[in-house]
Amino acid sequence: MLDSLTRLEERRAEARQGGGERRIAAQHAKGKLTARERLEVLLDEGSFEELDMFVEHNCTDFGMEAQVIPGDGVVTGSGTINGRLVFVFSQDFTVFGGSLSERHAAKICKIMDMALKVGAPVIGLNDSGGARIQEGVASLGGYAEVFQRNVLASGVVPQLSLVMGPCAGGAVYSPAMTDFIFMVKDSSYMFVTGPDVVKTVTNEVVSQEDLGGAVTHTTKSSVADCAFENDIEALLAARDLMGFLPASNRSGLPERASGDPFDRLEPSLDSLIPPSPNQPYDMHELIAKVVDEAEFFEIQPDHAGNILTGFGRIEGRPVGIVANQPMVLAGCLDINASKKAARFVRFCDAFEIPIVTFVDVPGFLPGVAQEHNGIIKHGAKLLFAYAEATVPKITVITRKAYGGAYDVMASKHLRGDLNYAWPTAEIAVMGAKGAVEIIFRGRSAEEIAERTAQYERRFANPFVAASKGFIDEVVMPHSTRRRVALGLRKLRGKQLQNPWKKHDNIPL
Ligand code: HXC
Repeated sequence: MLDSLTRLEERRAEARQGGGERRIAAQHAKGKLTARERLEVLLDEGSFEELDMFVEHNCTDFGMEAQVIPGDGVVTGSGTINGRLVFVFSQDFTVFGGSLSERHAAKICKIMDMALKVGAPVIGLNDSGGARIQEGVASLGGYAEVFQRNVLASGVVPQLSLVMGPCAGGAVYSPAMTDFIFMVKDSSYMFVTGPDVVKTVTNEVVSQEDLGGAVTHTTKSSVADCAFENDIEALLAARDLMGFLPASNRSGLPERASGDPFDRLEPSLDSLIPPSPNQPYDMHELIAKVVDEAEFFEIQPDHAGNILTGFGRIEGRPVGIVANQPMVLAGCLDINASKKAARFVRFCDAFEIPIVTFVDVPGFLPGVAQEHNGIIKHGAKLLFAYAEATVPKITVITRKAYGGAYDVMASKHLRGDLNYAWPTAEIAVMGAKGAVEIIFRGRSAEEIAERTAQYERRFANPFVAASKGFIDEVVMPHSTRRRVALGLRKLRGKQLQNPWKKHDNIPL
Protein backbone atom coordinates (compact mmCIF):
# COMPACT_ATOMS: atom_id res chain seq x y z
CA MET A 1 0.00 0.00 0.00
CA LEU A 2 2.66 2.48 1.06
CA ASP A 3 4.54 1.67 -2.12
CA SER A 4 1.62 2.62 -4.31
CA LEU A 5 1.15 5.89 -2.41
CA THR A 6 4.80 6.71 -2.92
CA ARG A 7 4.56 5.73 -6.56
CA LEU A 8 1.60 8.11 -7.00
CA GLU A 9 3.60 10.95 -5.48
CA GLU A 10 6.48 10.16 -7.79
CA ARG A 11 4.24 10.13 -10.84
CA ARG A 12 2.69 13.41 -9.76
CA ALA A 13 6.10 14.99 -9.29
CA GLU A 14 7.10 13.79 -12.75
CA ALA A 15 3.97 15.28 -14.31
CA ARG A 16 4.57 18.58 -12.52
CA GLN A 17 7.99 18.78 -14.18
CA GLY A 18 6.29 19.26 -17.57
CA GLY A 19 8.95 19.53 -20.27
CA GLY A 20 11.79 19.51 -17.71
CA GLU A 21 14.25 21.90 -16.11
CA ARG A 22 15.85 23.12 -19.34
CA ARG A 23 12.58 24.13 -20.95
CA ILE A 24 11.27 25.66 -17.71
CA ALA A 25 14.43 27.79 -17.56
CA ALA A 26 13.85 28.84 -21.19
CA GLN A 27 10.25 29.83 -20.31
CA HIS A 28 11.48 31.93 -17.38
CA ALA A 29 14.21 33.49 -19.54
CA LYS A 30 11.45 34.85 -21.80
CA GLY A 31 9.90 36.55 -18.76
CA LYS A 32 7.04 34.04 -18.71
CA LEU A 33 5.74 31.96 -15.82
CA THR A 34 5.07 28.25 -16.31
CA ALA A 35 1.55 26.91 -16.71
CA ARG A 36 1.41 25.84 -13.06
CA GLU A 37 2.97 29.01 -11.67
CA ARG A 38 0.30 30.98 -13.51
CA LEU A 39 -2.47 28.97 -11.90
CA GLU A 40 -0.93 29.63 -8.49
CA VAL A 41 -1.23 33.39 -9.07
CA LEU A 42 -4.69 33.18 -10.62
CA LEU A 43 -6.39 30.98 -8.04
CA ASP A 44 -6.84 31.22 -4.28
CA GLU A 45 -3.92 29.64 -2.47
CA GLY A 46 -4.19 25.86 -2.35
CA SER A 47 -7.56 25.82 -4.15
CA PHE A 48 -6.45 24.23 -7.43
CA GLU A 49 -7.71 20.70 -7.99
CA GLU A 50 -6.18 19.14 -11.05
CA LEU A 51 -7.87 16.70 -13.41
CA ASP A 52 -6.37 14.50 -16.10
CA MET A 53 -2.82 14.86 -14.85
CA PHE A 54 -1.86 11.53 -16.40
CA VAL A 55 -3.47 11.95 -19.79
CA GLU A 56 -1.06 11.14 -22.63
CA HIS A 57 -1.24 11.70 -26.36
CA ASN A 58 -2.16 8.82 -28.65
CA CYS A 59 0.11 9.68 -31.58
CA THR A 60 2.47 7.09 -33.02
CA ASP A 61 3.76 9.02 -36.04
CA PHE A 62 7.14 10.73 -36.30
CA GLY A 63 8.53 8.83 -33.31
CA MET A 64 5.98 10.34 -30.96
CA GLU A 65 5.38 7.02 -29.17
CA ALA A 66 8.81 7.50 -27.62
CA GLN A 67 8.00 11.02 -26.44
CA VAL A 68 5.23 10.92 -23.90
CA ILE A 69 4.84 13.53 -21.19
CA PRO A 70 2.00 13.10 -18.66
CA GLY A 71 -0.61 15.83 -18.96
CA ASP A 72 0.18 16.35 -22.66
CA GLY A 73 0.88 20.06 -22.59
CA VAL A 74 -2.10 21.45 -20.73
CA VAL A 75 -2.91 21.66 -17.03
CA THR A 76 -6.67 21.55 -16.37
CA GLY A 77 -9.00 21.55 -13.41
CA SER A 78 -10.88 23.88 -11.10
CA GLY A 79 -10.16 26.23 -8.25
CA THR A 80 -11.57 29.32 -6.61
CA ILE A 81 -11.09 33.06 -6.98
CA ASN A 82 -12.05 34.85 -3.79
CA GLY A 83 -13.88 31.68 -2.80
CA ARG A 84 -15.89 31.40 -6.05
CA LEU A 85 -15.56 28.35 -8.31
CA VAL A 86 -13.90 28.64 -11.73
CA PHE A 87 -12.72 26.07 -14.25
CA VAL A 88 -9.31 26.58 -15.80
CA PHE A 89 -6.92 25.32 -18.40
CA SER A 90 -3.34 26.45 -18.69
CA GLN A 91 -1.29 25.45 -21.72
CA ASP A 92 2.23 24.31 -20.90
CA PHE A 93 4.68 25.64 -23.48
CA THR A 94 7.43 23.41 -22.04
CA VAL A 95 5.60 20.32 -23.32
CA PHE A 96 5.65 20.11 -27.14
CA GLY A 97 5.41 23.91 -27.22
CA GLY A 98 1.95 23.75 -25.63
CA SER A 99 0.72 22.47 -28.99
CA LEU A 100 -2.78 21.07 -29.11
CA SER A 101 -3.18 17.32 -29.63
CA GLU A 102 -6.43 15.37 -29.73
CA ARG A 103 -6.04 14.43 -26.04
CA HIS A 104 -4.95 17.94 -25.04
CA ALA A 105 -8.17 19.22 -26.63
CA ALA A 106 -10.21 16.54 -24.88
CA LYS A 107 -8.88 17.74 -21.52
CA ILE A 108 -9.99 21.30 -22.28
CA CYS A 109 -13.38 20.06 -23.48
CA LYS A 110 -13.87 18.07 -20.27
CA ILE A 111 -13.54 21.10 -18.01
CA MET A 112 -15.67 23.21 -20.36
CA ASP A 113 -18.43 20.60 -20.23
CA MET A 114 -18.26 20.56 -16.43
CA ALA A 115 -18.32 24.33 -16.24
CA LEU A 116 -21.45 24.42 -18.39
CA LYS A 117 -23.12 21.69 -16.35
CA VAL A 118 -22.55 23.36 -13.00
CA GLY A 119 -22.66 26.99 -14.16
CA ALA A 120 -19.16 28.33 -13.49
CA PRO A 121 -16.78 30.50 -15.55
CA VAL A 122 -14.02 29.12 -17.77
CA ILE A 123 -10.62 30.81 -17.78
CA GLY A 124 -8.12 29.74 -20.42
CA LEU A 125 -4.42 30.56 -20.22
CA ASN A 126 -3.13 30.27 -23.78
CA ASP A 127 0.53 29.64 -24.58
CA SER A 128 0.78 27.32 -27.54
CA GLY A 129 2.55 26.63 -30.82
CA GLY A 130 -0.85 25.72 -32.32
CA ALA A 131 -1.93 22.43 -33.81
CA ARG A 132 0.31 19.48 -32.80
CA ILE A 133 2.01 19.11 -36.14
CA GLN A 134 2.67 15.38 -35.73
CA GLU A 135 -1.06 14.70 -35.26
CA GLY A 136 -2.43 16.60 -38.23
CA VAL A 137 -6.17 16.43 -38.66
CA ALA A 138 -6.74 14.90 -35.21
CA SER A 139 -5.52 18.18 -33.80
CA LEU A 140 -7.79 20.20 -36.08
CA GLY A 141 -10.72 18.14 -34.89
CA GLY A 142 -9.67 18.92 -31.31
CA TYR A 143 -9.75 22.64 -32.01
CA ALA A 144 -13.20 22.42 -33.52
CA GLU A 145 -14.45 20.52 -30.46
CA VAL A 146 -13.23 23.41 -28.31
CA PHE A 147 -14.76 26.00 -30.68
CA GLN A 148 -18.13 24.31 -30.53
CA ARG A 149 -18.07 24.46 -26.73
CA ASN A 150 -16.99 28.12 -26.77
CA VAL A 151 -20.13 28.87 -28.74
CA LEU A 152 -22.46 26.79 -26.58
CA ALA A 153 -21.03 28.34 -23.43
CA SER A 154 -21.32 31.90 -24.79
CA GLY A 155 -23.93 33.77 -22.77
CA VAL A 156 -24.26 30.87 -20.31
CA VAL A 157 -20.99 31.08 -18.36
CA PRO A 158 -18.41 33.87 -18.57
CA GLN A 159 -15.35 32.89 -20.61
CA LEU A 160 -12.05 34.71 -20.21
CA SER A 161 -8.89 34.15 -22.25
CA LEU A 162 -5.44 35.20 -21.20
CA VAL A 163 -3.05 35.03 -24.12
CA MET A 164 0.39 34.67 -22.58
CA GLY A 165 2.51 33.35 -25.43
CA PRO A 166 2.05 32.35 -29.06
CA CYS A 167 -1.50 31.94 -30.34
CA ALA A 168 -1.52 31.61 -34.10
CA GLY A 169 -3.46 30.20 -37.02
CA GLY A 170 -6.93 28.84 -36.40
CA ALA A 171 -6.04 28.58 -32.72
CA VAL A 172 -6.88 32.26 -32.34
CA TYR A 173 -10.56 31.52 -32.83
CA SER A 174 -11.10 29.95 -29.45
CA PRO A 175 -10.05 33.09 -27.52
CA ALA A 176 -11.84 35.18 -30.14
CA MET A 177 -15.15 33.61 -29.19
CA THR A 178 -14.70 34.13 -25.44
CA ASP A 179 -16.05 37.19 -23.66
CA PHE A 180 -12.78 38.93 -22.84
CA ILE A 181 -9.18 38.60 -23.97
CA PHE A 182 -6.22 39.82 -21.92
CA MET A 183 -2.73 39.88 -23.46
CA VAL A 184 0.76 40.32 -22.07
CA LYS A 185 3.02 42.90 -23.74
CA ASP A 186 6.11 41.64 -25.57
CA SER A 187 5.51 37.95 -24.81
CA SER A 188 2.18 37.18 -26.45
CA TYR A 189 0.88 37.45 -29.96
CA MET A 190 -2.18 36.45 -31.94
CA PHE A 191 -2.41 36.26 -35.71
CA VAL A 192 -4.07 34.11 -38.32
CA THR A 193 -0.90 34.10 -40.45
CA GLY A 194 2.50 35.15 -39.13
CA PRO A 195 5.02 37.69 -40.45
CA ASP A 196 6.70 35.18 -42.82
CA VAL A 197 3.48 34.26 -44.60
CA VAL A 198 2.46 37.90 -44.72
CA LYS A 199 5.77 38.78 -46.35
CA THR A 200 5.40 36.02 -48.95
CA VAL A 201 1.82 36.85 -49.86
CA THR A 202 1.61 40.63 -49.59
CA ASN A 203 5.26 41.66 -49.47
CA GLU A 204 4.63 43.54 -46.23
CA VAL A 205 7.42 43.42 -43.68
CA VAL A 206 6.15 43.44 -40.13
CA SER A 207 7.34 42.21 -36.75
CA GLN A 208 5.38 39.70 -34.64
CA GLU A 209 4.69 42.41 -32.10
CA ASP A 210 3.39 44.90 -34.68
CA LEU A 211 1.33 42.30 -36.46
CA GLY A 212 -0.36 40.75 -33.47
CA GLY A 213 1.13 41.85 -30.15
CA ALA A 214 -0.77 43.09 -27.11
CA VAL A 215 -0.51 46.76 -28.05
CA THR A 216 -1.70 46.18 -31.62
CA HIS A 217 -4.72 44.17 -30.48
CA THR A 218 -5.76 46.51 -27.68
CA THR A 219 -5.38 49.72 -29.69
CA LYS A 220 -5.88 49.01 -33.40
CA SER A 221 -7.75 45.77 -33.97
CA SER A 222 -9.65 45.62 -30.64
CA VAL A 223 -9.32 41.83 -30.78
CA ALA A 224 -8.08 41.98 -27.17
CA ASP A 225 -9.55 43.98 -24.29
CA CYS A 226 -6.64 44.78 -21.99
CA ALA A 227 -2.83 44.66 -22.23
CA PHE A 228 -0.55 44.07 -19.25
CA GLU A 229 3.16 44.45 -18.59
CA ASN A 230 3.71 40.88 -17.40
CA ASP A 231 2.03 37.59 -16.51
CA ILE A 232 1.43 38.52 -12.87
CA GLU A 233 -0.34 41.78 -13.68
CA ALA A 234 -2.57 40.02 -16.19
CA LEU A 235 -3.44 37.21 -13.77
CA LEU A 236 -4.23 39.58 -10.89
CA ALA A 237 -6.42 41.66 -13.21
CA ALA A 238 -8.26 38.47 -14.19
CA ARG A 239 -9.01 37.90 -10.50
CA ASP A 240 -10.38 41.44 -10.24
CA LEU A 241 -12.52 41.08 -13.34
CA MET A 242 -14.04 37.81 -12.13
CA GLY A 243 -15.18 39.65 -9.00
CA PHE A 244 -17.65 41.63 -11.14
CA LEU A 245 -19.08 38.68 -13.03
CA PRO A 246 -21.76 36.19 -12.06
CA ALA A 247 -20.87 32.50 -12.15
CA SER A 248 -23.44 31.96 -14.89
CA ASN A 249 -26.47 33.56 -16.53
CA ARG A 250 -28.68 31.90 -13.90
CA SER A 251 -26.68 32.46 -10.75
CA GLY A 252 -27.41 36.06 -9.75
CA LEU A 253 -24.78 38.73 -9.26
CA PRO A 254 -21.90 38.48 -6.79
CA GLU A 255 -22.25 40.89 -3.90
CA ARG A 256 -19.54 42.49 -1.85
CA ALA A 257 -19.92 44.51 1.35
CA SER A 258 -19.36 48.21 0.66
CA GLY A 259 -18.73 50.95 3.17
CA ASP A 260 -19.51 53.62 0.57
CA PRO A 261 -22.87 55.26 1.46
CA PHE A 262 -25.48 54.96 -1.29
CA ASP A 263 -26.44 58.60 -0.77
CA ARG A 264 -22.94 60.05 -0.82
CA LEU A 265 -23.28 63.53 -2.36
CA GLU A 266 -20.59 64.85 -4.68
CA PRO A 267 -20.82 68.66 -4.78
CA SER A 268 -17.85 68.79 -7.18
CA LEU A 269 -20.05 67.28 -9.90
CA ASP A 270 -22.13 70.48 -9.92
CA SER A 271 -19.22 72.19 -11.68
CA LEU A 272 -18.03 69.27 -13.84
CA ILE A 273 -19.60 70.66 -17.01
CA PRO A 274 -17.42 73.48 -18.38
CA PRO A 275 -19.00 76.86 -19.29
CA SER A 276 -18.47 76.41 -23.04
CA PRO A 277 -20.28 73.55 -24.79
CA ASN A 278 -17.16 72.91 -26.87
CA GLN A 279 -14.92 72.39 -23.87
CA PRO A 280 -14.28 68.76 -22.91
CA TYR A 281 -14.17 67.22 -19.45
CA ASP A 282 -13.12 63.78 -18.32
CA MET A 283 -16.04 61.39 -18.04
CA HIS A 284 -13.83 59.13 -15.89
CA GLU A 285 -14.29 61.67 -13.11
CA LEU A 286 -18.06 61.25 -13.10
CA ILE A 287 -17.79 57.46 -13.17
CA ALA A 288 -15.28 57.41 -10.30
CA LYS A 289 -17.52 59.65 -8.21
CA VAL A 290 -20.63 57.56 -8.78
CA VAL A 291 -19.38 53.98 -8.26
CA ASP A 292 -18.39 52.39 -4.94
CA GLU A 293 -14.95 53.48 -3.74
CA ALA A 294 -14.15 54.94 -7.21
CA GLU A 295 -13.37 51.42 -8.46
CA PHE A 296 -13.89 51.11 -12.23
CA PHE A 297 -12.61 48.09 -14.20
CA GLU A 298 -12.29 49.47 -17.68
CA ILE A 299 -12.74 47.21 -20.70
CA GLN A 300 -10.87 48.23 -23.85
CA PRO A 301 -9.37 51.35 -22.25
CA ASP A 302 -6.97 51.81 -25.19
CA HIS A 303 -9.42 51.48 -28.07
CA ALA A 304 -12.21 53.84 -29.18
CA GLY A 305 -11.58 56.22 -26.31
CA ASN A 306 -14.64 58.24 -27.33
CA ILE A 307 -16.74 55.73 -25.44
CA LEU A 308 -15.91 54.22 -22.05
CA THR A 309 -17.03 50.75 -21.05
CA GLY A 310 -16.38 48.83 -17.86
CA PHE A 311 -17.59 47.48 -14.58
CA GLY A 312 -18.17 49.17 -11.25
CA ARG A 313 -20.28 48.46 -8.20
CA ILE A 314 -23.13 50.33 -6.58
CA GLU A 315 -24.03 49.27 -3.05
CA GLY A 316 -21.69 46.30 -3.54
CA ARG A 317 -23.48 44.99 -6.65
CA PRO A 318 -21.91 45.02 -10.12
CA VAL A 319 -23.08 47.36 -12.86
CA GLY A 320 -21.91 47.77 -16.43
CA ILE A 321 -21.09 51.35 -17.31
CA VAL A 322 -21.17 52.86 -20.77
CA ALA A 323 -20.27 56.54 -21.13
CA ASN A 324 -19.47 58.93 -23.95
CA GLN A 325 -16.09 60.55 -23.41
CA PRO A 326 -16.00 64.23 -24.47
CA MET A 327 -12.18 64.20 -24.27
CA VAL A 328 -11.89 62.05 -27.43
CA LEU A 329 -13.54 63.06 -30.73
CA ALA A 330 -15.88 65.20 -28.59
CA GLY A 331 -17.58 61.96 -27.56
CA CYS A 332 -18.99 61.27 -31.05
CA LEU A 333 -20.17 57.79 -31.88
CA ASP A 334 -18.09 56.26 -34.65
CA ILE A 335 -17.68 52.73 -35.98
CA ASN A 336 -15.20 51.60 -33.35
CA ALA A 337 -17.11 53.11 -30.42
CA SER A 338 -20.36 51.56 -31.61
CA LYS A 339 -18.86 48.09 -31.91
CA LYS A 340 -17.03 48.36 -28.60
CA ALA A 341 -20.08 49.46 -26.64
CA ALA A 342 -22.50 47.12 -28.43
CA ARG A 343 -20.49 44.06 -27.46
CA PHE A 344 -20.23 45.29 -23.89
CA VAL A 345 -23.98 45.97 -23.61
CA ARG A 346 -24.75 42.50 -24.96
CA PHE A 347 -22.38 40.90 -22.45
CA CYS A 348 -24.10 42.73 -19.59
CA ASP A 349 -27.54 41.79 -20.84
CA ALA A 350 -26.59 38.12 -21.28
CA PHE A 351 -25.36 37.96 -17.68
CA GLU A 352 -28.07 40.11 -16.05
CA ILE A 353 -25.73 42.93 -15.15
CA PRO A 354 -27.63 46.25 -14.98
CA ILE A 355 -26.42 48.96 -17.35
CA VAL A 356 -25.80 52.57 -16.32
CA THR A 357 -25.26 54.92 -19.27
CA PHE A 358 -23.80 58.43 -19.03
CA VAL A 359 -24.57 60.46 -22.12
CA ASP A 360 -22.73 63.40 -23.63
CA VAL A 361 -22.87 62.78 -27.34
CA PRO A 362 -22.90 65.37 -30.14
CA GLY A 363 -23.94 62.74 -32.69
CA PHE A 364 -22.42 60.25 -35.08
CA LEU A 365 -19.00 61.10 -36.47
CA PRO A 366 -19.33 62.52 -40.01
CA GLY A 367 -16.93 61.51 -42.78
CA VAL A 368 -16.45 59.60 -46.00
CA ALA A 369 -14.35 56.94 -44.25
CA GLN A 370 -17.06 56.38 -41.65
CA GLU A 371 -19.79 56.03 -44.28
CA HIS A 372 -17.76 53.85 -46.61
CA ASN A 373 -16.74 51.57 -43.77
CA GLY A 374 -20.31 51.08 -42.72
CA ILE A 375 -21.19 53.37 -39.81
CA ILE A 376 -24.81 52.64 -40.67
CA LYS A 377 -24.44 48.95 -39.97
CA HIS A 378 -22.01 49.35 -37.05
CA GLY A 379 -23.98 52.12 -35.38
CA ALA A 380 -27.02 49.88 -35.68
CA LYS A 381 -25.21 47.32 -33.54
CA LEU A 382 -25.25 49.62 -30.55
CA LEU A 383 -28.84 50.66 -31.16
CA PHE A 384 -29.83 47.00 -31.47
CA ALA A 385 -27.91 45.99 -28.35
CA TYR A 386 -29.55 48.62 -26.18
CA ALA A 387 -32.99 47.97 -27.64
CA GLU A 388 -32.92 44.22 -27.07
CA ALA A 389 -31.44 44.47 -23.56
CA THR A 390 -33.91 43.56 -20.82
CA VAL A 391 -31.66 44.21 -17.82
CA PRO A 392 -32.25 47.32 -15.68
CA LYS A 393 -31.16 50.35 -17.70
CA ILE A 394 -30.51 53.72 -16.07
CA THR A 395 -29.44 56.66 -18.20
CA VAL A 396 -28.06 60.02 -17.11
CA ILE A 397 -27.63 62.75 -19.73
CA THR A 398 -24.99 65.18 -18.53
CA ARG A 399 -24.78 67.51 -21.51
CA LYS A 400 -25.33 66.81 -25.21
CA ALA A 401 -27.76 64.22 -26.48
CA TYR A 402 -28.19 65.10 -30.11
CA GLY A 403 -29.91 63.47 -33.02
CA GLY A 404 -29.87 59.73 -33.63
CA ALA A 405 -27.22 59.34 -30.96
CA TYR A 406 -29.79 60.56 -28.38
CA ASP A 407 -32.05 57.68 -29.39
CA VAL A 408 -29.22 55.15 -29.38
CA MET A 409 -27.76 55.89 -25.96
CA ALA A 410 -30.30 53.96 -23.87
CA SER A 411 -33.07 56.49 -24.41
CA LYS A 412 -36.55 56.13 -22.92
CA HIS A 413 -37.78 54.91 -26.29
CA LEU A 414 -35.42 51.91 -26.15
CA ARG A 415 -37.01 50.85 -22.87
CA GLY A 416 -34.71 52.85 -20.61
CA ASP A 417 -36.14 52.26 -17.13
CA LEU A 418 -35.01 55.49 -15.51
CA ASN A 419 -33.84 58.33 -17.72
CA TYR A 420 -32.35 61.23 -15.85
CA ALA A 421 -30.85 64.47 -17.10
CA TRP A 422 -28.69 67.05 -15.41
CA PRO A 423 -29.90 70.68 -15.70
CA THR A 424 -26.97 71.18 -18.12
CA ALA A 425 -28.41 68.66 -20.60
CA GLU A 426 -29.12 69.71 -24.17
CA ILE A 427 -31.48 67.27 -25.83
CA ALA A 428 -32.14 68.24 -29.43
CA VAL A 429 -31.96 67.17 -33.04
CA MET A 430 -28.60 68.89 -33.41
CA GLY A 431 -26.46 71.70 -32.00
CA ALA A 432 -28.07 75.15 -32.12
CA LYS A 433 -25.69 76.67 -34.68
CA GLY A 434 -26.01 73.80 -37.14
CA ALA A 435 -29.78 73.78 -36.75
CA VAL A 436 -30.15 77.51 -37.36
CA GLU A 437 -27.83 77.47 -40.36
CA ILE A 438 -30.15 74.96 -42.00
CA ILE A 439 -33.47 76.53 -41.08
CA PHE A 440 -32.29 80.09 -41.82
CA ARG A 441 -29.91 79.38 -44.68
CA GLY A 442 -28.61 82.55 -46.38
CA ARG A 443 -29.57 84.95 -43.60
CA SER A 444 -27.16 87.57 -42.29
CA ALA A 445 -24.56 86.72 -39.68
CA GLU A 446 -26.39 88.86 -37.12
CA GLU A 447 -29.68 87.10 -37.70
CA ILE A 448 -28.01 83.70 -37.49
CA ALA A 449 -26.42 84.69 -34.16
CA GLU A 450 -29.75 85.91 -32.82
CA ARG A 451 -31.63 82.84 -34.01
CA THR A 452 -28.94 80.60 -32.55
CA ALA A 453 -29.38 82.22 -29.14
CA GLN A 454 -33.13 81.80 -29.51
CA TYR A 455 -32.76 78.11 -30.47
CA GLU A 456 -30.44 77.53 -27.52
CA ARG A 457 -32.91 79.10 -25.10
CA ARG A 458 -35.67 76.92 -26.49
CA PHE A 459 -33.92 73.57 -26.98
CA ALA A 460 -30.52 73.53 -25.25
CA ASN A 461 -32.00 72.23 -22.02
CA PRO A 462 -33.58 69.06 -20.67
CA PHE A 463 -37.04 70.52 -20.09
CA VAL A 464 -38.57 69.97 -23.52
CA ALA A 465 -37.74 66.26 -23.27
CA ALA A 466 -38.87 66.24 -19.63
CA SER A 467 -42.19 67.86 -20.57
CA LYS A 468 -42.85 64.91 -22.87
CA GLY A 469 -41.87 62.32 -20.25
CA PHE A 470 -38.80 61.26 -22.25
CA ILE A 471 -36.75 62.29 -19.22
CA ASP A 472 -38.15 60.99 -15.94
CA GLU A 473 -36.55 63.66 -13.78
CA VAL A 474 -34.05 66.48 -14.04
CA VAL A 475 -31.58 65.77 -11.23
CA MET A 476 -28.84 67.63 -9.45
CA PRO A 477 -25.38 66.41 -10.55
CA HIS A 478 -24.27 66.08 -6.92
CA SER A 479 -27.04 63.56 -6.23
CA THR A 480 -26.26 61.27 -9.20
CA ARG A 481 -24.95 58.37 -7.10
CA ARG A 482 -27.99 58.47 -4.83
CA ARG A 483 -30.36 58.54 -7.81
CA VAL A 484 -28.60 55.66 -9.55
CA ALA A 485 -28.41 53.59 -6.35
CA LEU A 486 -32.08 54.09 -5.55
CA GLY A 487 -32.96 53.34 -9.16
CA LEU A 488 -31.04 50.07 -9.08
CA ARG A 489 -32.75 49.09 -5.82
CA LYS A 490 -36.15 49.71 -7.42
CA LEU A 491 -35.25 47.75 -10.51
CA ARG A 492 -33.97 44.66 -8.67
CA GLY A 493 -37.25 42.88 -9.39
CA LYS A 494 -37.48 43.96 -13.03
CA GLN A 495 -39.02 41.38 -15.32
CA LEU A 496 -39.13 41.89 -19.05
CA GLN A 497 -39.04 39.41 -21.89
CA ASN A 498 -38.58 39.84 -25.60
CA PRO A 499 -40.89 37.94 -27.95
CA TRP A 500 -39.96 34.29 -28.58
CA LYS A 501 -37.52 33.81 -31.43
CA LYS A 502 -34.83 31.31 -32.38
CA HIS A 503 -32.34 34.15 -32.23
CA ASP A 504 -32.25 37.70 -33.46
CA ASN A 505 -30.45 38.98 -36.52
CA ILE A 506 -28.25 41.75 -35.12
CA PRO A 507 -26.51 43.60 -37.99
CA LEU A 508 -23.14 41.83 -37.78
C1 HXC B 1 4.47 20.19 -32.17
C2 HXC B 1 5.69 21.99 -31.47
C3 HXC B 1 4.81 22.87 -32.15
C4 HXC B 1 3.70 22.31 -32.83
C5 HXC B 1 6.34 24.05 -31.20
N1 HXC B 1 6.64 22.77 -30.93
N2 HXC B 1 5.24 24.13 -31.96
N3 HXC B 1 5.52 20.67 -31.49
N4 HXC B 1 3.57 20.97 -32.80
N5 HXC B 1 2.82 23.08 -33.45
C6 HXC B 1 7.73 22.29 -30.12
C7 HXC B 1 9.09 22.46 -30.77
O1 HXC B 1 9.36 21.35 -31.57
C8 HXC B 1 9.99 22.54 -29.57
O2 HXC B 1 10.21 21.24 -29.08
C9 HXC B 1 9.15 23.26 -28.55
O3 HXC B 1 7.80 23.09 -28.95
C10 HXC B 1 9.44 24.73 -28.46
O4 HXC B 1 9.43 25.27 -29.76
P1 HXC B 1 10.59 26.24 -30.27
O5 HXC B 1 10.39 26.40 -31.73
O6 HXC B 1 11.89 25.79 -29.80
O7 HXC B 1 10.20 27.57 -29.48
P2 HXC B 1 10.27 29.07 -29.94
O8 HXC B 1 11.59 29.35 -30.61
O9 HXC B 1 9.88 29.88 -28.75
O10 HXC B 1 9.15 29.21 -31.07
C11 HXC B 1 7.79 29.03 -30.76
C12 HXC B 1 6.94 28.97 -32.04
C13 HXC B 1 7.53 27.89 -32.99
C14 HXC B 1 6.97 30.33 -32.74
C15 HXC B 1 5.51 28.68 -31.63
O11 HXC B 1 7.72 26.69 -32.23
C16 HXC B 1 6.66 27.60 -34.14
O12 HXC B 1 6.63 28.34 -35.12
N6 HXC B 1 5.93 26.48 -34.07
C17 HXC B 1 5.10 26.02 -35.13
C18 HXC B 1 3.88 26.87 -35.19
C19 HXC B 1 2.90 26.35 -36.21
O13 HXC B 1 3.16 26.42 -37.41
N7 HXC B 1 1.84 25.71 -35.70
C20 HXC B 1 0.83 25.14 -36.51
C21 HXC B 1 -0.03 26.31 -36.93
S1 HXC B 1 -1.43 25.82 -37.77
P3 HXC B 1 11.51 20.83 -28.25
O14 HXC B 1 11.37 19.38 -28.05
O15 HXC B 1 12.67 21.24 -29.08
O16 HXC B 1 11.42 21.62 -26.95
C22 HXC B 1 -2.52 25.71 -36.55
C23 HXC B 1 -3.83 25.37 -37.07
C24 HXC B 1 -4.84 25.40 -36.01
O17 HXC B 1 -2.28 25.88 -35.43
C25 HXC B 1 -6.14 25.30 -36.72
C26 HXC B 1 -7.27 25.32 -35.80
C27 HXC B 1 -8.54 25.42 -36.58
